[in-house]
Amino acid sequence: MKTLVTKRLILRDLRYSDVEDFYNYAKKPNIGPSAGWKPHQSIDESMKIIRMMISENEVWAITLKEVDQVIGTIGLHVRNFDNAISNQKEIGYVLDDTHWGKGLMVEAVEAVLRYAFIDLELDKVLCGHSIHNIQSKRVVEKSNFIYTHNEFRDHFDGTQIEIMMYELTKDNYLGGKHDKSKTEIRL
Ligand SMILES: CC(C)(COP(=O)(O)OP(=O)(O)OC[C@H]1O[C@@H](n2cnc3c(N)ncnc32)[C@H](O)[C@@H]1OP(=O)(O)O)[C@@H](O)C(=O)NCCC(=O)NCCS
Repeated sequence: MKTLVTKRLILRDLRYSDVEDFYNYAKKPNIGPSAGWKPHQSIDESMKIIRMMISENEVWAITLKEVDQVIGTIGLHVRNFDNAISNQKEIGYVLDDTHWGKGLMVEAVEAVLRYAFIDLELDKVLCGHSIHNIQSKRVVEKSNFIYTHNEFRDHFDGTQIEIMMYELTKDNYLGGKHDKSKTEIRL
């Protein structure tokens, strides 16, 4: 993954050595379930997820500039057949609750959108949140995504959860209010 630098954040590759920081928030009951996954039960479980994410190469670790400690993740995923054949990806993110409410995820999303449209030249980026997830809804709105439809997805507890889906096309992005110049990319 290319490292993306914003005003307050560095988005970088995940490392095996991040496992303790990752487990520290992934075990909390108010983080994973909002994104559809079960809170981690052990550090070993977090290591297995890190291994998977490193091999899939779709996820950045979110760190603050002043401390190289993982406080969340953000990814660009190919979730289904449509994504694979239509030059589009779905953005997904989580942040440790000790850092909520500071606009950090909007900043991370902005950097990833710039990378998605300018560097990867994607045609569309999708995003979805559960109908109950008002915090994520605010991130999506502040990032200028456009609502498209609701759909049901599998939740970790075996139930189906209703998701509001949004999209941002390359044309919307290029013609919109997004900051296209400020993300530094480190090779
Ligand atoms: C969704 C999430 C990434 C938002 O990140 P963030 O950096 O805190 O986003 P913002 O700072 O822009 O805050 C978003 C909204 O949440 C509100 N908020 C912040 N802390 C809150 C809290 N403890 N309880 C309720 N709302 C809160 C903010 O006021 C803001 O709303 P506003 O723009 O109307 O003021 C973060 O809450 C999170 O990781 N949640 C758990 C995982 C998750 O839901 N992932 C997304 C799956 S779709």
